[in-house]
Amino acid sequence: MVEKKIGEYLQTKWAAGKVIYKQTTVSTNEDAKQFAGEGAEHGLLVIADAQSGGKGRRGRSWQSEPETTISMTLLCRPQFTAEKASMLTLVMGLAVAEAISELTGVSASIKWPNDIVVNHKKVCGILTELGTTRGQIDYLIVGVGINVNNGITLPSADVSEKRRFAFGEELADTATSLWFETGVEVSREKLIAAIMEKFEQYYEKFVQDLNLQAMLDVYNSRLVGAGGEVRVLDPQGEYIGISRGIDAKGNLLVEVSGDVKKVYAGEVSVRGLYGYV
Ligand code: BTN
Repeated sequence: MVEKKIGEYLQTKWAAGKVIYKQTTVSTNEDAKQFAGEGAEHGLLVIADAQSGGKGRRGRSWQSEPETTISMTLLCRPQFTAEKASMLTLVMGLAVAEAISELTGVSASIKWPNDIVVNHKKVCGILTELGTTRGQIDYLIVGVGINVNNGITLPSADVSEKRRFAFGEELADTATSLWFETGVEVSREKLIAAIMEKFEQYYEKFVQDLNLQAMLDVYNSRLVGAGGEVRVLDPQGEYIGISRGIDAKGNLLVEVSGDVKKVYAGEVSVRGLYGYV
């Protein structure tokens, strides 16, 4: 990662206003929490070239290959209350999907609520965490892991073999990198800058009304599976319905026997009927 270059590409007012760059760390989310505790400002971005203990959702670990992936966490100090926080995961998802599409030409879609997929495979995961005092947000951190150039250094072999090398047997069918999808090296610095610009623009729209109304159409046009059948993995019992997109509060609307259920991002996972998406 070329630290200086990120600044050259950035055209933001506050997002990544300060950047802390680490060659290696345990988790940029943990770093951002620590900086938040030390009084860091809204817009601080922590970036690492390698993480030894990257965290995923639901207590899972997140593997980020040194030098080729993006591992970064943005610190926000919003003025709104905690129940609105999950909407910022969606704002970041939209920013990442648009930045990837514009920079690389591939079509990036959003697997609600926190994954970005390209050609039906996961290329990015987002983990939002927050610290609160009496319901008010003290800090909100949005961690973003993107597979950018994974696979590029592997000796020539057939693509499925390369995928197994790059992501391991378990993830070979569901994970990908931008390099696998485009065949060209993608600048991590340019991608980070583009994401920060998009996030800042959408964040400012979001805080005007504290909902996603202003970006609902663009979000839903990128949503995986809209109009198709989805399986909702609700802890109270799984069910199948038709995805009708998200509403302005970020809930996924799922039609079941003519009724529309609102699925809240924190509660459940949603799958397509056949495989990961
Ligand atoms: C997921 O898909 O489960 C979310 C993955 C989030 C990974 C990113 S990498 C940067 C930041 N630091 C972490 O420890 N996790 C997030």
